[in-house]
Amino acid sequence: MAIEVNPLSDVFGAEILGADLNRFDDEQQFEQIRDAFLAHGVIAIRNQEISPEVQIAFGRRFGALQTHVLKKFLLPEHPEILVLSNRRENGEPIGVSDAGRHWHTDMSYTERPPLGSMLYAHEIPPEGGDTLFANMHAVYDALPDLMKRRIEGLNGVYDYKRDYEKARQKNPDRPPLSSAQLADLSEVTHPLVRTHPDTGRKALYVNEGHTTGIEGLAEETGRDLLAELFAFSTLPEFIYRHRWHRHDVLFWDNRRALHHALAYDMHYTRHMHRVTVAGDKPF
Ligand code: SIN
Repeated sequence: MAIEVNPLSDVFGAEILGADLNRFDDEQQFEQIRDAFLAHGVIAIRNQEISPEVQIAFGRRFGALQTHVLKKFLLPEHPEILVLSNRRENGEPIGVSDAGRHWHTDMSYTERPPLGSMLYAHEIPPEGGDTLFANMHAVYDALPDLMKRRIEGLNGVYDYKRDYEKARQKNPDRPPLSSAQLADLSEVTHPLVRTHPDTGRKALYVNEGHTTGIEGLAEETGRDLLAELFAFSTLPEFIYRHRWHRHDVLFWDNRRALHHALAYDMHYTRHMHRVTVAGDKPF
């Protein structure tokens, strides 16, 4: 059965109707979803009733899954799933309640950042908790030529610890990083301009959450250049705002999208399961 793909904005993003991810091994459906993912960058597969096993199996159709460094919030029995939730059980948080509250790409602080992230909405608040996405192909295309020449060949420096410590100061539910976690989190560098391995298109690749400097530039010069790039990449004309429906499976391409989770009234529950598909070293 053919699925229906409807663009969600002029910037990027599309919804998919008529799919059933319980048929994760259906080749025709998979090809159509993969094509939509590559064409639209962010896809919302609507009305899915799926188990953790099915989400994992569907995620694996796109590549190996990557486990998050925050072990405390992985789903028991299914460590491939990171729980993003403000639910508590026996007084204890069962998920990250404040994940992604700034512009970032998931795990860009790793040597091989994920190809994509897939978030399944189990429960959403009646309002708030939307997720913003910036189309980094459009951002790159719109950069002034002078800026394109200035950043060509430069590498950004990435670090998770600064970001995590900032979040931890606001949210005591976040545990301190253990020495084993810290050992896994050494600084990495990635090109400021990356080429999408499947489409060949260029994207600006920096994010406020994890890019802390520019290799080879004095600290202040790097900081100023990054501030300029961060501000440009999040101008309204590059943004798609995802308003969640319960049972959306939202899958976004980290090689061409930044995202930012918005706050919501914590009296309501927002409960999501994320799987993260491994990617390549950016080039
Ligand atoms: C994230 O993966 O950064 C969180 C996104 C969200 O909760 O909307």
